[in-house]
Amino acid sequence: MFNKSNQTKPTLDTNRIPKHIAIIMDGNGRWAQKRHLPRIAGHRQGMETVKTITKAASKLGVQVLTLYAFSTENWKRPTDEVSFLMSLPVKFFDNFVPELIENNVQVKVMGVIDQLPTQTQRAVHRAIADTSQCTGMILNFALNYGSRLDIRMAVQQIGSEVKSGQIEPDKIDDQMITDHLMTNFLGKLSDPDLLIRTSGEERVSNFLLWQIAYSELVFTNVLWPDFNEQTLTNMILTYQHRDRRYGGLKTSK
Ligand code: FPP
Repeated sequence: MFNKSNQTKPTLDTNRIPKHIAIIMDGNGRWAQKRHLPRIAGHRQGMETVKTITKAASKLGVQVLTLYAFSTENWKRPTDEVSFLMSLPVKFFDNFVPELIENNVQVKVMGVIDQLPTQTQRAVHRAIADTSQCTGMILNFALNYGSRLDIRMAVQQIGSEVKSGQIEPDKIDDQMITDHLMTNFLGKLSDPDLLIRTSGEERVSNFLLWQIAYSELVFTNVLWPDFNEQTLTNMILTYQHRDRRYGGLKTSK
């Protein structure tokens, strides 16, 4: 990655910054465990990383940053940990919305919001409203999100439109499915260009399964609380060395 002959760091091609980056923020628990701290200390530090990476991504010109903050499977964790994770959006938005506005960042949230504790729902709706006039990067939290649930709900919706005669089954195409998913508000940017997972795990864990069909997947051993602007830059450099062919033969360079 680095040019050993003159020790200069490679620089990012500012014309090829991924428009949509999605991140599976993993490793909070292990970060805490290494320090003999409770797991929630890792989540608290992970929240600080969210602030750092939001500002860094916005500065780099990323248009959408989608963060997997809580999956539909995360309810299986101990009650104390779930409660703490549910309190994080409240803390985060209470404290960080002014800076988001300063950075012209617009907050969006996708997932089953009405199953969240009332306080969390309120914080989420307030942050969305408070940043609705911002026109820069979209910070999209996946909260109580699961991709199979998203696809199932889309299929149910399309099924009922077929049943009522609004659409013919043979008119169902990729675009129609895309338009029925929770990322539909992102329009042309609904599919991530780059999917990052931290902490050395190499799985997609029910995240954006339809949308990552042609995303570049980049994995790092860095634990989420240790992820920083330099790690993000390195991930984007890796992405910029990939040749995206979308099943074809022509190189994108
Ligand atoms: C996975 O690490 C992480 C989560 C399930 C939670 C992610 C949440 C944050 C990073 C904070 C979110 C902040 C806001 C503002 C909502 P893990 O606990 O599974 O780590 P481990 O695999 O090391 O145990």
